[in-house]
Parts: sequence; structure tokens; C-alpha cells
Amino acid sequence: TRTYVVTGSASGIGAATAELLRSRGENVIGIDLRGAEVEADLSTPAGRADAAASAIARANGVIDAVIACAGISAPIAKTMSINYFGVTELLTALLPALRESEAPRAAVVSSMATLQPIAPALVDAALAGDEAMAVAIGDELAKDPRLGYLNYPSSKRALSRWVRRESISPDWAGAGIPLNAVAPGTVVTPMTAELLASPEGAAMVDAAVPMPLNHHQPASSIAELLVWLTSPANTHMAGQTVYCDGGADATLRGDDI
Ligand code: NAI
Repeated sequence: TRTYVVTGSASGIGAATAELLRSRGENVIGIDLRGAEVEADLSTPAGRADAAASAIARANGVIDAVIACAGISAPIAKTMSINYFGVTELLTALLPALRESEAPRAAVVSSMATLQPIAPALVDAALAGDEAMAVAIGDELAKDPRLGYLNYPSSKRALSRWVRRESISPDWAGAGIPLNAVAPGTVVTPMTAELLASPEGAAMVDAAVPMPLNHHQPASSIAELLVWLTSPANTHMAGQTVYCDGGADATLRGDDI
């Protein structure tokens, strides 16, 4: 039995991942605002530190894998705090316990939104580790109804770039820990339910996220991939953002490879 820490375990992709792992007999420590083994707010430094300390204590100091799913898609600065800092700071805080595992792994949920327009200064502030600056920029964007949406793709672009950089560092590759990201298309979860409920909302989503293969995807399609990425079978994948998105990336980026 391996011990997995899964963030966002109370809903959507995180819940599907926790369920899949439990069905295979693995030990899951969920982290979420409510309805999880560890209840913590990953939008704040104190919440991240609490979450890491509680998870490590529950795991008796040995964590085999971390799967970070918690996130929001709102056009506000807090999106960067949760989607980027809530992932990168938590993973960093859990590293000592991962190092105690015989086959440590980590995977995070990014998005096909990495391919959408971003605010470069916001991405740079996040990658520099400057949360105060990132929040200030995000707040400015949020004041303009035409620009607020940039908070979400910027958070995911920064996250995928962080994964790419960190994955080959002494902390991760050097310690034998594969670190990768998954980029879903449009997943049917509570996050997208309201938008997909109206024909106008669904049409807007489909225009931005073309999915020629099987259209909207269930959370289980992402859970299966996350579980493989964090299994001992994954020995050589590092720094990738794996687009599991019904063909959205192949459609939008075409030959850009
Ligand atoms: P969801 O809304 O169903 O679940 C997200 C979970 O994260 C919730 O349980 C929520 O309580 C938790 N969470 C939010 N803020 C938190 C905080 N401050 N501290 C701790 N936990 C917090 O959403 P879904 O769809 O399962 O999304 C999971 C991940 O997948 C997110 O990172 C999202 O950006 C990403 N994603 C989702 C897509 C979709 O179409 N649903 C598409 C691409 C990426």
C-alpha cells in the first residue's frame, strides 16, 4: 500500500482520483477546504504550512506520492494564490516526506488554458516566488472586465513552467522523483457545471476548447492519468505537461512541436 496526498479531494477531479486510488487499496490523505482528512485553505501561506504539517503527521513521515488538484477558475487574483502558490509551496513543503519513500512521485493539474493568452508580468511574478506582487497584478487585471480572465491561464502557464523547471532540479530529478503536470480540456465537474448548463455557456466553452475526440471528458479520464504518473511504473517522465484534452492542444497548436 502506498500513501497518496491528494488536494482538492472533496470534489471533481480530486474526488475521482482519491476514489480510484482507494479502489486499488491505496491509502489516501485528502486535503480540501472541507470534507477531507486534512481541512486547510491552500490560498494562504499559513494554510499551506498547516496542510503540509498535518499531512506529514498523518502519513507518519513517509509520503509516496502527491497529486495536486485543488484549484479555482475565477477571474480574480486569488486564483494565482491557490492554483500556483497553493501547489508549489505545498509540494516543496512535502518534499522531505516524499524523500522517505522508495518510489516517490508527484503530479499536478494544470490546464489546456496554458495555451490561452496570459499576462506575462503576472507569470513572471509567480515564477519569481513573489506572491504579493502577483496578487497586486492580479487585482489590477480583475478590475477590468476584459482582462480579469487572464488570471486563470496565467496561473496554469506559471504552474506548468514551474513543473518544467523544478522537475530537472536536484530536489526532484536529482532525488529520483518524477514531477509532471496534466492539462485537461473541459471536464464535467462542479467547476464547469454552471457554464455548461446553458447553451450559450457551452457554446462559448466549446469555441475556446475544441475537443474533436469524445467531446467533454469525465473526471475519471484525468484521474486515470494522474494515478499512472504517480505510480512506480513511471520511471522516466519529467517536467511534462500532458495534454489529455480530447485533442484541444493538437487542434489549437497544430504543428507547433
Ligand atoms: P472542483 O471545483 O470540482 O474541485 C476543486 C476542489 O478544490 C474543491 O473541492 C475545492 O474545495 C478545492 N479548493 C478550492 N480552493 C481551495 C483552497 N483554497 N484550499 C483547499 N482546497 C481548495 O474543480 P475540478 O474541475 O475538479 O478542478 C480540479 C483542477 O482541475 C483545478 O486545478 C482546475 O483548475 C483544473 N482543471 C479543471 C478543468 C475543468 O474543466 N473542470 C479543466 C482544466 C483544468
